Amino acid sequence: MATFTVKKQQTKPFDGQKPGTSGLRKKVKVFQQEHYLANFVQSTFKALPAEKIRGSTIVVSGDGRYYSEDAIQIIIKIAAANGVGQVWVGQDGLLSTPAVSCIIRDRVGSKGEKAYGAFILTASHNAGGPDEDFGIKYNTENGGPALESLTDKIFENTKNIKEYLIAEGIPHVDIHNTGRSTFSGPSGEFAVEVFDSTEEYVNLMKKIFDFEAISRLLARPDFTFCFDALHGVAGVYAKRIFVTELGAAESSLVNCVPKEDFGGGHPDPNLTYAKQLVKTMGLGSPVPEEIPEFGAAADGDADRNMILGKKFFVTPSDSVAIIAANAVGSIPYFRHGLKGVARSMPTSAALDVVAKGLGLRQFEVPTGWKFFGNLMDAGMCSICGEESFGTGSDHIREKDGIWAVLAWLSILAYRNRDVAADGKLVTVEDIVTLHWKTYGRHYYTRYDYENVDAGAAKNLMDHLVKHHSDLDGLNKIIKDTRPEVAEVALGDEFEYTDPVDGSVSSHQGVRFLFKDGSRLVFRLSGTGSVGATIRLYIEQYQSDRSKTGADAAGTLAPLVQVALVISKMEEFTGRSSPTVIT
Ligand code: G6P
Ligand code: ZN
Repeated sequence: MATFTVKKQQTKPFDGQKPGTSGLRKKVKVFQQEHYLANFVQSTFKALPAEKIRGSTIVVSGDGRYYSEDAIQIIIKIAAANGVGQVWVGQDGLLSTPAVSCIIRDRVGSKGEKAYGAFILTASHNAGGPDEDFGIKYNTENGGPALESLTDKIFENTKNIKEYLIAEGIPHVDIHNTGRSTFSGPSGEFAVEVFDSTEEYVNLMKKIFDFEAISRLLARPDFTFCFDALHGVAGVYAKRIFVTELGAAESSLVNCVPKEDFGGGHPDPNLTYAKQLVKTMGLGSPVPEEIPEFGAAADGDADRNMILGKKFFVTPSDSVAIIAANAVGSIPYFRHGLKGVARSMPTSAALDVVAKGLGLRQFEVPTGWKFFGNLMDAGMCSICGEESFGTGSDHIREKDGIWAVLAWLSILAYRNRDVAADGKLVTVEDIVTLHWKTYGRHYYTRYDYENVDAGAAKNLMDHLVKHHSDLDGLNKIIKDTRPEVAEVALGDEFEYTDPVDGSVSSHQGVRFLFKDGSRLVFRLSGTGSVGATIRLYIEQYQSDRSKTGADAAGTLAPLVQVALVISKMEEFTGRSSPTVIT
């Protein structure tokens, strides 16, 4: 057994190690600076109670992006030096973000031990490679992202750090073969265990869903399926679940080999970046002759998802509402009913209408999955979702791309349970249009202005807030721009008081609520790594069941124009059009 000693390495603070909505994300080149990652990891250990760290088990893995392997080796050495007893690593360093959450909650080691926390190495949907992004975030004992109280402490520590602890004598650990390596250090044995990345997660999915029913759906000759992992870590899970467990054809998986640069693409499952899938599903041009009935994609770390039908896009806001409306009959995990539902503020109110219809408790939280965690831990929420292509439930404390796909397949399987193979298949589009006829439709779109000058973005937001104190003036501008648009009834900055711990989060987005129920929301992204990203969310409710089938872009055009005028978007940013529309 190799022995190691603990060295105190002198270091100096780096600026800007404040973790954002989902951890610290920077260019790989920034992370490659000597001591940069080590400073952050040491600052995290220092922010955690020492007695909890001593002898603990910590998970380290991620989406396999460039620099992951180097980072894993560094973290192993710092963990060992800080008294961690064992590091668990998914094979090849791969674990999806939802799988990490599942491992923390469900995996039991050979001595009955459980993980205390995890370092997840991912920058989610941001591009990867030597010139792109790397990221690290810490998840706690409940399997969810660290709360602000902890990330604030970590950030404080990064500002004062003078030294970190690192093990000397631990060789490069093989993370490609499963097995256990042990080392002997000053405070006893330290181990690194490399394990199968899929097993616990697959077992959890089997407990939640009716795999037999989904297999029967996938076996129908008239049901064709396509999943695109965008070269992220979802591919590993897709192969095991869709092909091995559920019997889908291998050819239904696209871009399912994880690559450290995601094949040069942007691993973000939306209409702009999941180009290949969008084309396959008949939403691009040319339209292929044969189009699958169901298409889905996930992001780099497999927590986001996009759901498509044949020539049909399901907005994430509709997706969570439809899953909530159908969960009880279709998904065994929910057979006893839902405890409640939740959405992030900019997500459309489609979920609210379902909650009202089903008599469920409903919560509106700021953007960021961590806000759902408290509600779930308190047993107040079963299903939640965000407009940013995140959907999930209280089975773990992260959003879950593969779960969302299985949820949709379950709904399809249930709706088609009595349809003979030669009968007419109930499609994704059928399910969505029927939902609109039942609950009304929230026309919805999001405009992103990426990599805008940070000062300009701030000025635009300040300008918007000024409108709040002069709604008469604002309504006059609106009337002059598009007289058919309703008046603004309320303008504010969203503020949230957590019903569980009473903590208050302010300045969570600038809102304009219109008299007819329409909404405009402006926010600055918390996940970008260069400049600022302005997000503009546009929503209009149509309760007249005969008008739910119109074109979304056309329906929303007047409201969009109003948004651009009242924000002076072009004047502030110099942009005449958004970089991404979803
Ligand atoms: C991450 C979080 C989500 C959040 C999203 C917002 O994906 O996990 O919970 O909705 O970031 O990103 P933004 O760039 O809009 O701050
Ligand atoms: Zn992600």
